[in-house]
Amino acid sequence: AAPPQDELKRVAAHRAVELVESGMVLGLGTGSTAAHALDRIGDLLRCGVLRDIVGIPTSEWAAARAAAAGIPLSDLNAHPVVDLSIDGADEVDPALNLVKGRGGSLLREKMVEGASRRFVVIVDDSKLVPRLGASGLAVPVEVIPFGYALTLRRLHKLFHGVPGFNLKLRTASVNAKASTFEEDGFELESFVTDNRNYIVDLFFEEGIHGDLNLISDEILRITGVVEHGMFLGLASSVIVARKDGVVVMDK
Ligand code: A5P
Repeated sequence: AAPPQDELKRVAAHRAVELVESGMVLGLGTGSTAAHALDRIGDLLRCGVLRDIVGIPTSEWAAARAAAAGIPLSDLNAHPVVDLSIDGADEVDPALNLVKGRGGSLLREKMVEGASRRFVVIVDDSKLVPRLGASGLAVPVEVIPFGYALTLRRLHKLFHGVPGFNLKLRTASVNAKASTFEEDGFELESFVTDNRNYIVDLFFEEGIHGDLNLISDEILRITGVVEHGMFLGLASSVIVARKDGVVVMDK
């Protein structure tokens, strides 16, 4: 039998797929929760309940999984407006702000989900937090490999003095997508994103205090930073599966 948490992920995913209509351009999420949605959409296409779906994958992983499920794929260039995106998240706060990117796909996710008329997040209740960063999991920042040590230092300086703050370059061991990358004469087993970038993981022991939009701007202003995993104001609704049933949080 599936572990109970995975069953909750499946319940949330299937509920979200009820929103899919024939003819839609769909943003296809990444991760173990989104996997259930991809498989479900594939099943509904196969049995003819859904037709004429075009999927815009948020990662190489999502592209492969969706192709295996039989979902026709395209990209943001051909479809700059997406009808509906369905994706998981690492954390959800009470205002429906998210942390995403534990799987490293935050940049493409933010592009596709930001281009969506509707973005529905699917989670089990373990993802709900009072404040972003509070689960102790990383808030990821995608950085270009060139000069990454300098970018890392600048990120460190930005949060200097924040109690319990820590950061580190993500290594390949956290993900199967290991690859060796040569940069500036260094060779290290660093995690590499689909965009050939690195990830710096930020850790906030007590969660992120302060104005999230301001903090977002400050991170993005650092040259060398490509994007971060805080998704502020992007989610239209969050479908939360709990042991006692499904709760939908709307914006
Ligand atoms: C991928 O980069 C992430 O943003 C995922 O969407 C997020 O980590 C959720 O994954 P799970 O559904 O596996 O928890």
